[in-house]
Amino acid sequence: MLTLRGRGPRRGAALSQLGIIKDGAVLVRDGRIAAVGPAPKVEKLAAARKAEKMDVAGRVVLPGFVDSHTHLIHSASRAEEYELKIQGASYEEIARKGGGILNSVKKLRAATSQQLKRRARAALELFAAHGTTTIEAKSGYGLDVASELKILSLHKELGAEQPIEIVSTFLGAHVVPVEFRNKATGSEDYVRLLTDWLIPEVSSNGLAEYCDVFCDRGAFSRAQSKQVLAAGIDHKLTPRLHAEQLSRTGATQLAVELGAASCDHLEQINGADIRALAKSNTVAALLPGCDFHLGLRQYAPARKLIETGAIVALATDYNPGTSPTMSMPMILSLACTQLRMTPAEAITAATINAAYSLGRHKRIGSLEVDKQADLAVFDVEDYREIPYYFGVNTCWLTMKGGHTIHAA
Ligand code: NIG
Ligand code: FE
Repeated sequence: MLTLRGRGPRRGAALSQLGIIKDGAVLVRDGRIAAVGPAPKVEKLAAARKAEKMDVAGRVVLPGFVDSHTHLIHSASRAEEYELKIQGASYEEIARKGGGILNSVKKLRAATSQQLKRRARAALELFAAHGTTTIEAKSGYGLDVASELKILSLHKELGAEQPIEIVSTFLGAHVVPVEFRNKATGSEDYVRLLTDWLIPEVSSNGLAEYCDVFCDRGAFSRAQSKQVLAAGIDHKLTPRLHAEQLSRTGATQLAVELGAASCDHLEQINGADIRALAKSNTVAALLPGCDFHLGLRQYAPARKLIETGAIVALATDYNPGTSPTMSMPMILSLACTQLRMTPAEAITAATINAAYSLGRHKRIGSLEVDKQADLAVFDVEDYREIPYYFGVNTCWLTMKGGHTIHAA
């Protein structure tokens, strides 16, 4: 049993401390952890003797994964672009021709809420099937008032209708939508729509906790990102940021300056950015699924981030353009082979550190008394086998708040 007990968030050497209990047991009551420790000790408790017993027979138990970066709501895959990319077109070339994010925006605007919900529910079941119990979800494929509100409302509805907890983020600043592109002042006009209209509306309806911006070449500048995130802060939406994915824009320094909860991607980050993150409480969320799917070779400098002292997290970035996966175990495999993180570091990054980036580390992300009973059981003998196996699913059972939500 990997408890991940102790203080969160973890930096440096502390990322390797999994709080392992050999032959462990966890006692669950009313959806919470009532006791956790060596099985003989837990089993002796009076409350344990009356409890329903589940023997996982030598398998590995750990906290449910917390996926701190997903674009849950979209209406279709972009398999046609995947093929173009394999044939040599770059992600940015495709985007310049109206493909990419705008392709998904066109499709989402044409979809009904019901169609979007059906696709999202199927995805949520797959998240659960791979051991994930909480996800963050971003809007950003609507990019007009009605469509963005539709997506955020779906986050809320889905959170109430199925077991995976959904943390909602407003990403109206994903790219400038097509109807704003033919005017010289188009991008400023769109930023104003976000800051003066959408952000107040999202906040007053309680539709998001966080505000994100895609700060990059072809999306929003550092100055525009600051404008959007500052408006978010004024309306009680905490910043997160897509930073230094395709080019270095200074987004990381902006994230730190604004006290962002997380700063994500970081493939193009430099030494000063790494030091700034290490001195801050902004989580460096790495998304190796993107580089893998796009066939890129420059992964984020995870080792330097860890060694310098940044709070490193891992996430799927589930989305139709750069990372179509719901599998956190696959992300752990990539973190180990491509980012050179150890299996222990990767597990910490995908649980307690990710929970911290969502402001939920006191409730989820580790197996400790009084925390929510969110856990995953893997059909392996050694926790290192979770990332070691890839392309197969070794998740055997997933539990959310004490209820089984997936059983192999
Ligand atoms: O996190 N980089 C911006 N957003 C997504 C990709 C969105 C898309 O291509 O549809 C990401 O990689
Ligand atoms: Fe993303």
